[in-house]
Amino acid sequence: MYTPSSERYAQMKYRRTGKSGLLLPEISLGLWHNFGGVDVFENGRAMVQYAFDNGITHFDLANNYGPPPGSAEENFGLILKKDFPGSLRDELVISTKAGYRMWDGPYGEWGSKKYLVNSLNQSLKRMDLEYVDIFYSHRPDPNTPMEETMSALAFAVQSGKALYAGLSNYSASETEVALTVLNKMGTPCLIHQPKYSMFARDPEAGLLEVLQKNGVGCIPFSPLAQGLLTDKYLDGIPNDSRAAKSHGFLQPGDVDEPKISQVKKLKALAQLRSQTISQLALSWLLHNPVITTVLVGASSVAQLASNMKCVENTAFTEDEINEINSILKSR
Ligand SMILES: NC(=O)c1ccc[n+]([C@@H]2O[C@H](COP(=O)([O-])OP(=O)(O)OC[C@H]3O[C@@H](n4cnc5c(N)ncnc54)[C@H](OP(=O)(O)O)[C@@H]3O)[C@@H](O)[C@H]2O)c1
Repeated sequence: MYTPSSERYAQMKYRRTGKSGLLLPEISLGLWHNFGGVDVFENGRAMVQYAFDNGITHFDLANNYGPPPGSAEENFGLILKKDFPGSLRDELVISTKAGYRMWDGPYGEWGSKKYLVNSLNQSLKRMDLEYVDIFYSHRPDPNTPMEETMSALAFAVQSGKALYAGLSNYSASETEVALTVLNKMGTPCLIHQPKYSMFARDPEAGLLEVLQKNGVGCIPFSPLAQGLLTDKYLDGIPNDSRAAKSHGFLQPGDVDEPKISQVKKLKALAQLRSQTISQLALSWLLHNPVITTVLVGASSVAQLASNMKCVENTAFTEDEINEINSILKSR
């Protein structure tokens, strides 16, 4: 039987999510890969237990995580039932999303109220929860009025099925529109979840500024570029890696020589800071105060344990920042 560590809040630091009342741990755990029906349940369970024992209170899901789609939520529901009974639920911040294809027909994806509300109901059933903490629109829908998609998020919150609303993969300009609509509906956006890492810096071109200006939190996903920003691929593609798995979203072609040569240069800098490459990549994101928490993935407790150490050193000198920028430009 699992008993959470009594020391679980001793080390982790928590940051305010935008101008809301919600604090989130500097590291959050995502269940996109390694928690599905094809994966080893006890491995995922051990990662959730380790995370919680070390101050990670935030767990991120989506309707379609698996494979098969939905199975990560089912497995997480099982973990909750076995390990987090009763009021332990109150110590967790659980998010889910809807936006990508989940079921057949015209109501199984995108941003209609019909799809979003039904998907949230299904997610709650799969996890056996009364509410999620954060419900996201997973992607903007160019063919549905913004008012309709946002009204689904507002409805989720007003009906008590979610405590907060979030946006993911919305551009800076789409975010500005969505925030205005949500504010008018009395359901301000809590947090935005963009793809953001040393290898994916699009949010720096406007989105981060919009979030800061509006007091909205930011939770970068794939902060390690799905594993590229680690030492995993320095000598080729290992058999047990995401890039080698048929159901992994990282393709072998994504592991290219220019990126690996940049990672090798980053490794030298990381060593000077007494960090691993992944710790450097995560602490570089946390260096910016607009970032609330970084949303990591992991395939083992050892990876998670090592990556969590990034919080010990999130300060960078100007020279280090310049060096990183120059490495990332050299392609
Ligand atoms: N909103 C969205 O559209 C969206 C999209 C994608 C993801 N997300 C969210 O973001 C979360 C994180 O995404 P992600 O899994 O792509 O994050 P990531 O942190 O960039 O990549 C995680 C993967 O990197 C490898 N790794 C991690 N630490 C390592 C280490 N110390 N040494 C060697 N390899 C290491 C592991 O892959 P191996 O299997 O190769 O070991 C691990 O599964 C997801 O779970 C999900 O919650 C959201």
